[in-house]
Amino acid sequence: MTWRRRCANATDTEVAGEELAVTLKSGDIVLLSGQLGAGKTTFVKGVARGLGVSERVTSPTFTMVRPHQCHNDQGISTLLHADVYRVENLAEVLDLALGELVEESAVALVEWGELASSIFGREVLTIQFQVDQDEGRLLEAGGALAQDRRSELDRWSAQ
Ligand SMILES: Nc1ncnc2c1ncn2[C@@H]1O[C@H](COP(=O)(O)OP(=O)(O)O)[C@@H](O)[C@H]1O
Ligand SMILES: [Mg+2]
Repeated sequence: MTWRRRCANATDTEVAGEELAVTLKSGDIVLLSGQLGAGKTTFVKGVARGLGVSERVTSPTFTMVRPHQCHNDQGISTLLHADVYRVENLAEVLDLALGELVEESAVALVEWGELASSIFGREVLTIQFQVDQDEGRLLEAGGALAQDRRSELDRWSAQ
C-alpha cells in the first residue's frame, strides 16, 4: 500500500516533511527519490523543522551526509541528511554506514536513495516525488516500513 499527498507549492512540500517527522522513530531510514528539482531537499527542511533542528538545512550534495542535531521528545537526537546522487559506486554508500549510525538514536533521510536501495534492505520508508502538470508535486510514501505506520500515514495523506 502507498500513501499520496499533493503539494501545490514549496511551502506545502515543507509542511508535508514537517508532518512526516511525527511518524518517524529512532533507527528509521527514509529514501527520497525523484528528478532534480522535485522537492527532496525542501521536504528534508520540513522534516528537520518537525524534529527540532535549529540550524539551516542545505543540500549535502558534495558532502554526501550531514548530521543535524535535533531537539524533540521522540527520542531522535540526530537527523542524518544524505545525498547519494554523486556516488560512483555502492561501496561509497556502504562506507557511510548509515544503517549503523541510525542505531544511535538517529534517523536518516537519503536523497536519490533509490540508487543505493540494495544497501538499505527492505525495512525502509520510501517517498517518491513527481512533478505534476501544474508544477505542483505528488508525493507517494511506501515501502515495508510504511506498512508498520499505516495509521500515521493515513493521517499524513489525508491533508
Ligand atoms: N510542491 C512544490 N511546488 C512547486 N515548487 C516546489 C514544490 N516543492 C518544492 N518546490 C521547488 O522546487 C525547487 C527544487 O527543490 P529541491 O527541494 O531543491 O529539489 P531536489 O532536492 O529534489 O533537487 C525549489 O525551488 C523548491 O522551492
Ligand atoms: Mg536536493
